[in-house]
Amino acid sequence: MDRLRPLGRTGLRVSPLGLGTTKFGRNEEVKYPREFDLPTDSEILALLECARLWGINLIDTAPAYGTSEERIGRLLVEREDWVIATKVGETFDGGRSRFDFSPEAIRRSVEESLRRLRTDWLDLVLLHSNGDDLSILDRSDALETLESLRESGKIRAIGASTKTVAGGLRATELCDVVMLSLSRADLSQRPVVEAAHRARVGVLVKKPLASGHDPDPALALAEVAASPGLTSIVVGTLSAEHLEQNARAVGLECS
Ligand SMILES: NC(=O)c1ccc[n+]([C@@H]2O[C@H](COP(=O)([O-])OP(=O)(O)OC[C@H]3O[C@@H](n4cnc5c(N)ncnc54)[C@H](OP(=O)(O)O)[C@@H]3O)[C@@H](O)[C@H]2O)c1
Repeated sequence: MDRLRPLGRTGLRVSPLGLGTTKFGRNEEVKYPREFDLPTDSEILALLECARLWGINLIDTAPAYGTSEERIGRLLVEREDWVIATKVGETFDGGRSRFDFSPEAIRRSVEESLRRLRTDWLDLVLLHSNGDDLSILDRSDALETLESLRESGKIRAIGASTKTVAGGLRATELCDVVMLSLSRADLSQRPVVEAAHRARVGVLVKKPLASGHDPDPALALAEVAASPGLTSIVVGTLSAEHLEQNARAVGLECS
């Protein structure tokens, strides 16, 4: 059964569950409940294979996720079967984040992502917000720069990973895709989902398990997935067993 859904009007089609990869490359300054070691290459390969078997084709990464992009670039096979979302604007180095939404930084970031991911195109590039969503969207040249990269063919779709309701609403007016936090613990972004749905803008959910703090992941995912207007829920995991549980919770079947 083809469970892929249109990602707004981008022409991309994504699975209702995406694979979040912060934990592939970064274990410092993260908000997960427990400390963890970065996965081995064979653990990542097993997760990617498990995702493929469950029909998951969306993989979410970012330059700020340590070695995540580089590891995906090295380990992902059959690139054309996957929709890769990455980000611009934030880097993480020496234990701290830095933000730069200038045209030069955005162009450089996209080139570096293409190189690390070993690909000729990025399916989706999101502005990685520092919390000041409206400034980034309306008072920087970041979006214009992404638009010109989209025209050049290096990027297929553009969007913003926002932190505020006002920023999310503005992103639905300007972008192809919005990524927002939605979990049982915090449903405050629901108005953004509704606006995006009306505008036929793709909606990706980040942190659906409140970064691992939800006590009942299966119930949490079923509840979040039931919100109308969502395109895909991106769950971070290093465990194939958890990936399978999550896939079942959103109604996927193993091939
Ligand atoms: N753009 C942004 O600003 C931004 C910010 C944050 C996140 N994101 C993206 O969104 C993704 C998801 O967010 P997130 O990783 O912060 O949080 P999340 O998906 O809400 O939670 C991930 C945590 O939940 C645990 N987990 C997953 N499935 C589970 C299950 N079935 N049972 C028990 N525990 C389970 C994982 O541990 P195990 O490894 O043990 O499964 C992990 O520690 C990220 O990986 C990233 O791709 C984007």
